[in-house]
Amino acid sequence: MNHRPPAPRMTVIGTGYLGATQAVCMAHLGFEVLAVDVDPAKIDALASGRLPFYEPGLDTLLGDTLATGRLRFTTDFDEAVAFGEVHFVCVGTPQSAGSDAADLRYVDAAFTELARRVACDALIVGKSTVPVGTAQRLTALVAEVAGPGVEVAWNPEFLREGFAVADTLHPDRLVFGVQSARAEGMLRAAYAPLLDEGVPVIVADLATAELVKVAANSFLATKISFINAMAEVCEATGADVSLLASALSYDDRIGGRFLKPGLGFGGGCLPKDIRAFRARAEELGVSAAVSFLHEVDQINLRRRSRTVDLVRELAGPDLRGVRVAALGAAFKPDSDDVRDAPALDVARLLYLEGASVVVYDPKANANAHRAYPDLDYAASLAEAVNEADVVLLLTEWAEFVSADPDDMGVLVAHRRIVDGRSALDVARYRAAGWEYRALGRPAGVGVARS
Ligand code: UDX
Repeated sequence: MNHRPPAPRMTVIGTGYLGATQAVCMAHLGFEVLAVDVDPAKIDALASGRLPFYEPGLDTLLGDTLATGRLRFTTDFDEAVAFGEVHFVCVGTPQSAGSDAADLRYVDAAFTELARRVACDALIVGKSTVPVGTAQRLTALVAEVAGPGVEVAWNPEFLREGFAVADTLHPDRLVFGVQSARAEGMLRAAYAPLLDEGVPVIVADLATAELVKVAANSFLATKISFINAMAEVCEATGADVSLLASALSYDDRIGGRFLKPGLGFGGGCLPKDIRAFRARAEELGVSAAVSFLHEVDQINLRRRSRTVDLVRELAGPDLRGVRVAALGAAFKPDSDDVRDAPALDVARLLYLEGASVVVYDPKANANAHRAYPDLDYAASLAEAVNEADVVLLLTEWAEFVSADPDDMGVLVAHRRIVDGRSALDVARYRAAGWEYRALGRPAGVGVARS
């Protein structure tokens, strides 16, 4: 006999990358989902099957799930709250203006709005990344306003942009931060299809659940900055960081993932999460425990100015008037997200030095233009590299990695390239007569071994 509780109806609050993915994937798994957002333009787009951002595979799944009738969108908070038994809060927690701390105004507003309206026997589940201690504070806030049957849980999300659907439907693990067996049971019901497939679940207290996410992102950022710190040492010694990373990766204890040297990390998560963690640690009186994250941040930012140095190596010390083709604007391939994007930052630094910068990104041109309207934007790779004195690979889109160095060579003014992601086939570029530079690699790299 099956004792499983009936499938809960779900509300998703916030329809950004995280919320839209959660809503679509939960509906895909068979649940009834109503997603709510304060932005009518976003809701109109989603309700008519259009994603307001680029995420491979999610657009198709959105259309499919809308067609089932299980997924709906609204701007009406009352309607949404009345509908669901499990409410997933998926709003943003950006970096505060003027400080490193997380800006919790959207999370606070979502919990306040929910607490005011929610009926008994509901579970409010935070999925946003928050400073440790936030869920406890929100529990007190909810208890003041809502009835005793309303509980708070935390269920951090680990999805990567570009892989959001796969990461949500096949997560490495689920983390449930709960305060009662009842809340655990409700979360188990909400994720039953994944648990049935054997996805591991860690049931923890609220603080641990909040910390898992922040710790994971801190570890990943540290791993990237570790290899980029080694790149700095390589630059001082003539060693090759790509070979170094490859040699390290054979040690199972180290592993090769997140050990790719280059321009470093950006996006809406890693940079602001490590900064918010330091800010929170300071409040808790344990700043020494995570002070290394300051170095992680600094190493990461130094890669950007080093990339500008490589352009100077190729084009001369004075960059005024030098025509630069910046290939990539998104913080990583398969994304149109330009938040804290290393690529755009390098383009901006070159522009400030007087270079004439033309940016091209297959998906992120519009977002980049909104963020940096002073830069020039090209509609294609060919247009971007046309008459370029130096080409920079800044985001390793497949289109750039697979470009033919000979075809591109015909278009440029000078065959000079800076590979900011160590993603190109050095031997092919050198064979086609390009001067090649990459972060953490000697200038002659590829010659002896090609
Ligand atoms: C990250 C976490 O991976 C995810 O678990 C969390 O939920 C949100 O933050 P995301 O920001 O989508 O996901 O991107 P991710 O794929 O982790 O890449 C982050 C940045 O690191 C990118 O700018 C990428 O270019 C860079 N990176 C990644 C490297 O520079 N080297 C690497 O080896 C790996």
